[in-house]
Amino acid sequence: MSQYKTEILPVTDAAIVQAAALIVQGEPVAVPTETVYGLAADATNPAAVAAIYTAKGRPGFNPLIVHVHDLTAATALAVFDDMARALAESFWPGPLTLVLPCAQTCPVATLATAGLPTIALRVSAHPAMQALLAASDRPLAAPSANASGRISPTRAAHVAESLGGRVPLILDGGPCAVGLESTIVAVGEGRVRLLRPGVVTPAEIGAVAGVAVVCASSGDIEAPGQMLSHYAPAKPLRLNVHASAPDEFMIGFGTVDGDINLSPAADLNQAAARLFDTLHAADAAPRAHIAIAPIPETGLGLAINDRLRRAAAPR
Ligand code: TXA
Ligand code: MG
Repeated sequence: MSQYKTEILPVTDAAIVQAAALIVQGEPVAVPTETVYGLAADATNPAAVAAIYTAKGRPGFNPLIVHVHDLTAATALAVFDDMARALAESFWPGPLTLVLPCAQTCPVATLATAGLPTIALRVSAHPAMQALLAASDRPLAAPSANASGRISPTRAAHVAESLGGRVPLILDGGPCAVGLESTIVAVGEGRVRLLRPGVVTPAEIGAVAGVAVVCASSGDIEAPGQMLSHYAPAKPLRLNVHASAPDEFMIGFGTVDGDINLSPAADLNQAAARLFDTLHAADAAPRAHIAIAPIPETGLGLAINDRLRRAAAPR
């Protein structure tokens, strides 16, 4: 894991310039939003998104919220129907995240959406996040800026306690006004499903959408308890394979080669950055099965193996 001498700077024009330069170089930067502090990185750069997971030490990949400057920027990434547009116009900027179908030409890295055909988008009202988006001129993937298993940070000092030494820069914008993560709703086909409660309430959302918000876990599309947010290939997947069978599309790693090699140099960050693109390619290939080389259980390998085990589990 990269070790940094973490700088904590108040939000000034100079600090934003410095933060944007780091973002453009593919580094993660902690930045306040009105809800909680986020750990932001260039959403279009797969290695930068992998760096978020490395810094958080998360043993799995969740799809991340992608932050954009405004609704116009959001429409380059996702498909907005009338209901989604009405919600965005009413609640953005603010603590509401919309999960929508990805646009065909969405430039966001598949690691940020965890390979899903949908994307979570948010326009924060916080001037620091707004300034960083403007200065870096790209969408920013930003989960809460805490190490895995720790509570979400609402002050720069919380971020420093949790991620000190793991990020180059923390922008200090004081305490977060809301202090609780954004409300998340999935919008589509005339329905609004609540994925995570927050300060924007189902009643407020329903009043704008013109339909009652349904609870995701009691929805009729996903079975109760089923994870809403996991992409898995449609084909059977075999793990820890050294030699593949003729009907298997082989995903290599390091010296175990394949039809695609996640990282010939056995670099786990590179492998994570390429994971979902590779699974999609394997799914689209003519062979009926997928095999994958062993991935070491260290660093980002823990998250990669977690995802692969879920993908390989009988469904
Ligand atoms: O307030 C917030 O939302 C903060 C600030 C930093 O913006 N961000 C935040 O991000 O809480 P994070 O990554 O910790 O939470 C993202 C949540 C996860 O529970 C994830 O499963 C869900 O959003 N999510 C993201 N994309 C999704 C998708 N396509 N479908 C369903 N759920 C999704
Ligand atoms: Mg979180």
